[in-house]
Amino acid sequence: MVRATIYPRLRYMGSKYKLAPTLAGVFSELGGESLLDAFSGSGFVGYLAKSMGYAVTSNDYLHFPSVISSAVMVNDSVVLSDELIAKITGPAADDRDFIRRTFKDVFFTDDDRAFLDSAWSHIASLDGFERDIALSALILSAARKQPRGVFTISGDLENYNDGRRDLRISLREHFRERVAEYNQAVFASAKPAQALTGDVFDLEKTDYDVVYLDPPYAPPSDDADYTKRYHFLEGLSDYWIGREIMHETKTKKIPKKHSLFASRFSIEDALERTFDKFKDAGAIVMSYSSNAVPDDARIKELLGAVKPNVEIRQISHQYHFGTHTTATRRAAQEYIFIGRD
Ligand SMILES: C[S@@+](CC[C@H](N)C(=O)[O-])C[C@H]1O[C@@H](n2cnc3c(N)ncnc32)[C@H](O)[C@@H]1O
Repeated sequence: MVRATIYPRLRYMGSKYKLAPTLAGVFSELGGESLLDAFSGSGFVGYLAKSMGYAVTSNDYLHFPSVISSAVMVNDSVVLSDELIAKITGPAADDRDFIRRTFKDVFFTDDDRAFLDSAWSHIASLDGFERDIALSALILSAARKQPRGVFTISGDLENYNDGRRDLRISLREHFRERVAEYNQAVFASAKPAQALTGDVFDLEKTDYDVVYLDPPYAPPSDDADYTKRYHFLEGLSDYWIGREIMHETKTKKIPKKHSLFASRFSIEDALERTFDKFKDAGAIVMSYSSNAVPDDARIKELLGAVKPNVEIRQISHQYHFGTHTTATRRAAQEYIFIGRD
């Protein structure tokens, strides 16, 4: 638990960093050996569970979350050496310029984008955990330097500049600092771990001791689209190789990845199917919010169909994510549903 406080923090919609003490309490009450973090996002919960001694499997349908989880949760011992850091932050190994060209006047300065291309020219020849750490540090650098951490806003973002150091330092400097954070976060566990990329419905193993579900919170209107907000980080995780770019969009997005959890029209069906899929797990723990649909009573009913003993815990939580800082903050209850046999 103490170790989880040094996790290199990615500002991510729905990240459970602030709920760490509560989640750690729930997991230690439940015990068990194996835990699935089925919607891993920033990777924080899987890392927390590893620090508590679980054999963790993490999964997300986006690719960059599995790169981060691999670097810092699956990896037990590899760190990025000073030599490799110097190489990646030094002169480019080739003349690639995809990021510099594609995102000109969209994201970052010319120098920062040139650094991303140049860093990739070296990372392309790495493999294993060294590659994952380098990519995670590059992803976290880009996320920290982008105002509000989301890639829905682009062009001249001077009005978001609140003088924060994260917005001032170059991506090259960020990279050196972020690598140091990832290096420091690596620790050994006696239990095996794995990081997967895929839809939750495609997971093969289902009988974990604890299954933790943190799906997108389907809002009453609109949808909870992660690709729209984090498309740049997703592309950066594999240099957009083989990916379609929607050049007509202002932010040069990649196509949205459909999720049954993101919309109010499909969420109930998605939850019902997910609970049923994990009916053989020791316990199902799910995070959800009171400003999403369906409500707590309906979730209790759906979860109760496979796990007869459902307990709901509530934590007050201020949402200030995805809205402008000066906009009204919505007070919401964060729920944790715990389903047991
Ligand atoms: C609320 S976030 C998880 C946040 C995470 N617990 C953390 O602490 O950062 C929801 C995640 O679900 C992923 N997701 C959405 N639909 C999915 C699906 N059908 N299968 C797997 N992952 C999905 C999104 O990419 C997003 O990362």
